[in-house]
Amino acid sequence: MDSANILVSINESKKIATVTLNKPKELNALSYSFLNEIFEALDTLDKNEKVNCIILTGTQRAFAAGADIKALVDQSPIGIWKMNMYDLWQGIKQIKKPIIAAVSGFALGGGCELAMICDIILAAENAVFGQPEIKLGIMPGAGGTQRLPKLVGKHKTMELVLTGNSITAVEALRIGLVNKVLPLEMLLHEAETMASTIASHSTVAVQLAKESVLKSFDMGLSDGLAFERRNYMTCFDTSEQKEKMGAFLKR
Ligand code: CAA
Repeated sequence: MDSANILVSINESKKIATVTLNKPKELNALSYSFLNEIFEALDTLDKNEKVNCIILTGTQRAFAAGADIKALVDQSPIGIWKMNMYDLWQGIKQIKKPIIAAVSGFALGGGCELAMICDIILAAENAVFGQPEIKLGIMPGAGGTQRLPKLVGKHKTMELVLTGNSITAVEALRIGLVNKVLPLEMLLHEAETMASTIASHSTVAVQLAKESVLKSFDMGLSDGLAFERRNYMTCFDTSEQKEKMGAFLKR
């Protein structure tokens, strides 16, 4: 699971893992093979019972500067279709455990989309977010026109996608793209604190809650509420529910 491009560390006592994207020379540009490595690292951790929450981070200078332009410049539509990065994005979307993106430096194009596919985004003060694809004669292709409006609304999305201009971490916080902005030296500490809190809760409840929140992006309210109700009821089949409620009543 560990490679030179992807560093994985697991803290078994806290039940958290950190996946670090480590291609600094290319600012973590997302080639097919690199995205595949990211997916495989996340998928392996998703199946590891010693891990309940995952942190995804990059280097100080870049979380990821987008899809690898070198691999795209001579592509045809059929070539893009055959490359099939879509399946990898879908695979990352289907990770059951919560993923906290800890973003330092550039999160542009596919890098911004990678952060948005995570469940929580913590940003260092030096983080820069944007969808600059329009400057390359293309448009976002991994969720930039779909996830971004659900997070920040139509008008801000249009501005980012149509101008290609990037925004600072503080602006990203103001428009609701990120959860918190932190001094760089505090970024991973805060991500680990938050991940440890999440990882300390019932694994089943955490994963069902994540699944339910994500369904709200795909379903109408009535179907979403029905889905939520089933996941809520499932929590009552866990020992944690009995233990935690029993402990509360015995206080
Ligand atoms: N693909 C391939 N290589 C990239 C890259 C990318 N997306 N971003 C940066 N790099 C490479 C550069 O080519 C350079 O490599 P060399 O040293 O070999 O020349 C190295 O990383 C460092 O980059 P810069 O010298 O450009 O560094 P900078 O500090 O001057 O600028 C930057 C940083 C503003 C992020 C600039 O590199 C940049 O604009 N990158 C492209 C960002 C972009 O357009 N991303 C969208 C890609 S398309 C996409 O993502 C589609 C999608 O929706 C999935």
